[in-house]
Amino acid sequence: MSALKTGEFVGSLDCGTTSTRFLIFDKYANIVASHQIEYPQYYPEPGWHEQDADEIMESCDVCIAEACGALESAGWPKDSVKVIGITNQRETAVAWSRKTGKPLCRAIVWTDSRTKNTVTHFEHKLGYVGLEVEPGVFKKGKEGEHALKRLTGLQLSTYFSAIKLRWMIDHHVNVKQAHEEDDLAFGTVESWIVYRLTGGVRSGIHVTEVTNASRTLLMNLRTLEWEHVMLKFLEIKDSVLPKIASSSEVYGEVAYGALKGVKIGGLVGDQQGALVGNKCLKQGEAKCTYGTGAFLLFCTGTDIVSSAHGLLSTVAYKDGPTGKPVYALEGSIAVAGSAIKWLRDSMGLLRDANDINTLAASVPRTGGVYFVPAFSGLLAPYWDPGAAGLLIGLSAYTTPGHICRATLEANAFQTREILESMKLDSKTQLKLLMVDGGMTNGDMAMQVLADMGGFTVVRPEMRESTALGSALLAGSAIRLFGWDISKPETLAEVNTKGTREFTPTITEELREKKWIGWKRAVERSLAWEE
Ligand code: G3P
Repeated sequence: MSALKTGEFVGSLDCGTTSTRFLIFDKYANIVASHQIEYPQYYPEPGWHEQDADEIMESCDVCIAEACGALESAGWPKDSVKVIGITNQRETAVAWSRKTGKPLCRAIVWTDSRTKNTVTHFEHKLGYVGLEVEPGVFKKGKEGEHALKRLTGLQLSTYFSAIKLRWMIDHHVNVKQAHEEDDLAFGTVESWIVYRLTGGVRSGIHVTEVTNASRTLLMNLRTLEWEHVMLKFLEIKDSVLPKIASSSEVYGEVAYGALKGVKIGGLVGDQQGALVGNKCLKQGEAKCTYGTGAFLLFCTGTDIVSSAHGLLSTVAYKDGPTGKPVYALEGSIAVAGSAIKWLRDSMGLLRDANDINTLAASVPRTGGVYFVPAFSGLLAPYWDPGAAGLLIGLSAYTTPGHICRATLEANAFQTREILESMKLDSKTQLKLLMVDGGMTNGDMAMQVLADMGGFTVVRPEMRESTALGSALLAGSAIRLFGWDISKPETLAEVNTKGTREFTPTITEELREKKWIGWKRAVERSLAWEE
């Protein structure tokens, strides 16, 4: 029998909205083994989107087992995985029983908009009763909105986890009862996975990570502690809450399976994970991940920049229990890759998603067509749930090529919208945008982004940036490979191969003409639905 090789690796469990993967990286971010599977999604009513927390966990267990199996088959002992990180779809709310360790209902996914009435209820409460910021001192109306934004960095929206938790308490009798009896445990997806990986009801730890906590509406962005003003406002007991931990520290060890005894050293929300994975660790650096939706995060360093232009303030990462938090401004786009899926599955314009690049390249311009893909309203910077999807400028001349090109341009314009807001909020002009996500595979899509956006787009060859981010945080926690997230120079050798840049090739005049056309199209889309 040939001798086993020796090596040191870091694992990353990436639990996204539709699939889970476990990747094992070496010190240069080469992937030495991986496994990915999709897990079931449930859409029981229009606007509802649920997942089964046990099925999420099963998918994690399978991915870990398969990837570790592949590592061993390649000749590496499985104990060469020294530490793992976990990264996850954010905002999705999980509720389980402390007594049994079992989920009390299906998880409500971040995309789910069933809580519109809950949001309206709390908007009214904010307007008429207000937030009790000090005993007996209430901030109402606009003042209340500002106070809420100052405390949490967020605004009332169906997007954030605490609103989903409130809905569960109001609509599931068993969740309500568990809440009353202090048996309810709440967590976002990383919290649930850590609880289960560390032994569940027997020995599981109940923690959440700070970037995830910053998406709940319950965490104070400055103190990084649970905010009692918000708990009181939303009528949620603090007995449900996990302990808030940093993004890089040893939280515990895996209790079973192929990774039994391996330390869990990094936790991070997936969009912040991609920020770290793209090594955008300092003020002024930004990334955008183009998946189903798109999420642009702009690192603001240790300053919290409060947006007056429709962006959210959020935690980017926190290096260890005593580390200083680093913050980001975030702009979320609801529809990016899903517009391409729509062209393929609902309109039949494409056979394969990648065909969009070929079809868009078949025409030099959009022929006057603009596409505002506001399928479920518009998020940043408009936050208009009543905005309608719109294709405008059609004529007998319009071909599928024009519509495909307009779809790629829509992606670029939506990105520019967010960057324009970031420029106003942070007084910084972004020159360079790191990108990752499925949509970035197309060269044409990336060239359109650089042309319409007017900035340089930088695309690494290895684009598992989200998973890499949690791996870097986990490695840094135990100083594996000398990595130290607070010293970016220690990461200089990570993921340097095959980076490609796309620079703008069109004139400033054409770019501005197209931008004005886009703004006119958006004007027509806004507030369409009553
Ligand atoms: O805020 C939601 C975001 O974290 C989801 O990301 O990549 O799982 O769709 P993704």
